[in-house]
Amino acid sequence: MSSDPALRARIAVLISGRGSNMAALFYASQAKDCPFEIAVVLADNPAAEGLILAQAEGLLTVALSPPAKGERAAFEARLTDHIADSGASLIVLAGFMRVLSADFVAAHAGRIVNIHPSLLPAHKGLHVHQAVLAAAETVTGCTVHLVTAALDGGPIMAQTRVAVIDNDTPETLAARVMLAEHQLYPRVIAELVAAPNRPDAQLNKLREIALALPAAAEKLSHGSPGFFVEGGKFFAYFSQNHHGDGITALLVKASGVEEQSQLIENDPELYFRPAYFGPSGWIGIRLDVGAVDWAHIADWLTRSWRMSAPKRLAMLPF
Ligand code: GRF
Repeated sequence: MSSDPALRARIAVLISGRGSNMAALFYASQAKDCPFEIAVVLADNPAAEGLILAQAEGLLTVALSPPAKGERAAFEARLTDHIADSGASLIVLAGFMRVLSADFVAAHAGRIVNIHPSLLPAHKGLHVHQAVLAAAETVTGCTVHLVTAALDGGPIMAQTRVAVIDNDTPETLAARVMLAEHQLYPRVIAELVAAPNRPDAQLNKLREIALALPAAAEKLSHGSPGFFVEGGKFFAYFSQNHHGDGITALLVKASGVEEQSQLIENDPELYFRPAYFGPSGWIGIRLDVGAVDWAHIADWLTRSWRMSAPKRLAMLPF
């Protein structure tokens, strides 16, 4: 992604209140070399204070009314429409106090990020600073993470540590953590959109595809991000410099060692026999040898998913 203004990544920022993280993102985006720009600021209530600043700065704003009971799907459909209209490719939650449905998250898998004022996985949810003080922690901080259906539970992208000071109150602590948030969030968003070929960006792209498959979930396995089917088995691993091999690759299931050998013979630059997994017919696909063919990767992920999913899911047409 270039910092050429015409080619900047467009982001949608979702707020519910003060919007100071939105402001930090906006002012960061004013730097000439910033690789993102705010395409739209969406609020889930017209009284969100941050809207005033966003409007004063000339940003496109949309204030939705909070959904009435039973209206969540319609509310989220409106959100999706506004995001699509704005051309945003990334959804940035900045103090958005509404839990998004699993359907919404799945529809935008790998493209929603959030900032939380603690060192996740510690202190999820609300009243974080009280909880930190009650637990007599000496260090807290903030976390930027990908959003999944689990509240404050998605893969962590970056954290900043903040010391707790004697006599801190929830307010003084919140104010200091906020300083760290305002530094961290624009930096992480810039990194995320700026380098589609960097391993972390590739991992995010893989997540986007893998987690969109039915019942797919992610967890670390021997230090590598692994994707599995709930109630089934692992169907993919992201391998980065595994045991110092210097390789960035996706590991998926081939039909067996025969297909594995054939693939390697046909395209030895792209395919390899992965350590440990090789004997059981897995195949390594390099992500670090030129432009990645993501459609090809998506085919492999789907195929490997089908081989790993419980029957009732694997039969689903999609
Ligand atoms: C921040 O502390 C953020 O971590 C949390 O909500 C707060 C939002 O503050 N998710 P602001 O609206 O950005 O000022």
